Amino acid sequence: MWIEGQVVSRQDWSDKLFSLRIKADIGDFIAGQFIKLSQVVDDKRIGRAYSLVNPPGTDYIEILAVAVNDGQLSPNLQALEVGDSIDVATKATGFMTLDELPKNEQKGKHLWFIATGTAVGPFISMMATNEPWQSYDKVILVYGVREVQDLAYLQLLKQFEVDHPEQFKLVLSVTREPFADAFNQRIPELVVNGELESKTGININSSDSQVMLCGNPGMISEMQQLLTDKGLVKNLRRAPGQITVEKYW
Ligand SMILES: Cc1cc2nc3c(=O)[nH]c(=O)nc-3n(C[C@H](O)[C@H](O)[C@H](O)COP(=O)(O)OP(=O)(O)OC[C@H]3O[C@@H](n4cnc5c(N)ncnc54)[C@H](O)[C@@H]3O)c2cc1C
Ligand SMILES: NC(=O)c1ccc[n+]([C@@H]2O[C@H](COP(=O)([O-])OP(=O)(O)OC[C@H]3O[C@@H](n4cnc5c(N)ncnc54)[C@H](OP(=O)(O)O)[C@@H]3O)[C@@H](O)[C@H]2O)c1
Repeated sequence: MWIEGQVVSRQDWSDKLFSLRIKADIGDFIAGQFIKLSQVVDDKRIGRAYSLVNPPGTDYIEILAVAVNDGQLSPNLQALEVGDSIDVATKATGFMTLDELPKNEQKGKHLWFIATGTAVGPFISMMATNEPWQSYDKVILVYGVREVQDLAYLQLLKQFEVDHPEQFKLVLSVTREPFADAFNQRIPELVVNGELESKTGININSSDSQVMLCGNPGMISEMQQLLTDKGLVKNLRRAPGQITVEKYW
């Protein structure tokens, strides 16, 4: 069930937010999936899910995590140094992947990735593959954080803009301080006031849109309601739709 992984590098984005690169042979996975990391704390095994930021085919795994105040595992992960060991599940899992989305005429042409905080990670993994660029006319990442320092991987996101200038749109929301390149409201507010659609020039509707929501459960619930009001429905294997969600807690 668990293999020993070794931290090969780390990056600190703020005093709470960090990325770890870990050498661990977990075999194949699909972009968007998560891996469990684990430690035995006071004789009790604690295992938690972390989305993979790296795309398939890399010889390491990478996670983006926030140290939750009084959390059981995440502060310990934040304390790991290069060379330290951490238990890693043998296989990644999860269904928030592009191959679970409808094919053919139900596919839609605009793929919306909507993330708060660390949930930008799985979308970065997907965008580092060919899949979204080959399958959709437009790919829009809406990324909401509290403060500017919480905008992890911003350089890489700007590189996607350079690499896919016609296809990719990056929309940032920074809610607790002003930032020139970002909206200052929460993501659902940007849907309600129409700013998201006007900034991107793209309408959200049931025939054109596929929407993946990941991260804060409050954001996901509010967005699901707003999207339902626009006629979108949850995507299920037995009944294709336009909304896919992954709540982090
Ligand atoms: C499918 C899936 C994928 C996940 N991927 C990631 C990831 O890529 N990066 C990541 O940091 N976390 C991710 N999480 C959350 C992660 O599994 C842990 O819950 C988190 O690290 C807290 O664990 P803990 O033991 O420190 O806290 P616990 O002692 O278990 O406390 C949990 C509480 O912390 C808060 N919380 C949990 N996760 C977050 C978070 N990411 N942001 C804000 N508050 C949170 C909630 O209030 C929750 O009730 C994911 C969860 C799921 C279900
Ligand atoms: N210094 C610290 O102690 C510190 C700092 C950062 C993080 N943390 C820890 O890290 C955890 C995660 O913080 P995070 O910043 O990564 O994630 P987060 O709390 O989910 O915030 C990320 C973004 O989501 C927004 N949001 C929150 N609830 C929402 C809702 N119901 N609907 C729509 N948008 C919503 C936030 O807006 P708002 O700004 O309006 O809430 C913010 O823009 C915290 O729970 C805390 O434990 C601690």
